[in-house]
Amino acid sequence: MKENNRISFGSKFGVYVATVGSAVGLGNIWRFPYLTGNNGGAAFILIYLICVLLIGIPIFMSELIIGRRGQGNSFRVFKNLAPEKPWYFIGILGFFSVFIILSFYGTIAGWTIEYIYLSVKSLFVQTQNSDYTAVFNDFHTSTFAPVVCQILFMIMTAIIILFGVQKGIENCSKILLPILFVILVILCVRSLMLPNSIEGLKFLFYPDFSKITTSVFLNALGQAFFSLSIGMGTIITYGSYVKKDNNLPKTSFLVSLTDMFIAILAGVAIFPALFSFGMSPSEGPGLVFIVLPEVFGQMVGGSFFSLLFFILLLVAALTSSISLLEVVVLFLIEECKMKRWAATVVSAIGATILGVFTTLSFGPLKDVNIFGKSIFDSADFLATNIFLPLSGFFIVIFLGWFYPKKNIKNEITNDGTIRFKLFPIYLFIIKFVAPIAIIFVFLRGLGIL
Ligand code: PHE
Repeated sequence: MKENNRISFGSKFGVYVATVGSAVGLGNIWRFPYLTGNNGGAAFILIYLICVLLIGIPIFMSELIIGRRGQGNSFRVFKNLAPEKPWYFIGILGFFSVFIILSFYGTIAGWTIEYIYLSVKSLFVQTQNSDYTAVFNDFHTSTFAPVVCQILFMIMTAIIILFGVQKGIENCSKILLPILFVILVILCVRSLMLPNSIEGLKFLFYPDFSKITTSVFLNALGQAFFSLSIGMGTIITYGSYVKKDNNLPKTSFLVSLTDMFIAILAGVAIFPALFSFGMSPSEGPGLVFIVLPEVFGQMVGGSFFSLLFFILLLVAALTSSISLLEVVVLFLIEECKMKRWAATVVSAIGATILGVFTTLSFGPLKDVNIFGKSIFDSADFLATNIFLPLSGFFIVIFLGWFYPKKNIKNEITNDGTIRFKLFPIYLFIIKFVAPIAIIFVFLRGLGIL
């Protein structure tokens, strides 16, 4: 396939950092811990890891292959690779997921902004209220502040996209991701030093299989997709910016392992502290916003660390949300011939409007139910547990059954210049294992199996 004049990431390390930037985000530090808490701990983690290894990594690699070979937005790549065939519907399905995920991503990232503000405040003012649950509840169920924060977050996302992804993102991520890592390690150490922390470790690493219910499978699979940013065209879009000499299997493994590792670290930072304070692991979406302030509250220099942590969480969220928005922006640029700024403004406004509903679903709109779930929960469930695995299913079916094997092999091996010994295993997985596993998890999740 021709090397055209599309923009691309600057270096191999840049590709790694940008894709890790997309993968590592609220999914690792906010969503993974609370799902682990709600789904029984270690047994959930085990199933999650199996989902990542068996389904996540192969699909991640498939998206990179499709993106780099197809050289276009996540809709155009399918038109390029399979002209006259309707596979581009995968791209369209992805757009729905992008908007839904951006909407609730903005909600949570908005909370992060409020916590940055609270941390700054407590640096200067001796705070009275140390009931962190009450602080959180007052804030996130109110009307004005969470919406303002969510809008602020979307503006930040849009600004970065306006200035173009490569320089800003690559360079920002190179500096900020290592700092995020260091802060997480410090928090882990602190958390492990608290009394009774061993209980938290047991919860994380000692599986109790009686905790496995049907929904655990669906949640673990959804989380694997969400955390790796797959199933909505993000990695396809980034793949189209990857140069021809990049080793795609290596990138896929490294990024996925980094992503898993950061999620586990977040678990180690949170659960020992949580058990030490005698709090419930099934706190839900508020987990990080209640437990960590509690830990910081007990630390020397806690406000400072709290500030640092929430800034980094915001940055992690930003490097993910831009990868979401870029999917739609690139589509509008290439297909509707829009200018980057117009595409950015249109898509950011769309996502913000949707986001207001998800944000308010904790407060004024909390009684609005869709199939028995709040707007926030239904958005999360629909996109993460249904749309993402569904797109993933069609991606592997497309590559495994319809796209010429020779082309896949050429793309993976960079036209025979590198070796990929696991190719037969990869093919077997995308042809059989991944699609069957996804169907199994779906049927189980729906209570049919
Ligand atoms: N992977 C990101 C996270 O874990 C979320 C995300 C999902 C980003 C989908 C891009 C696309 O926070």
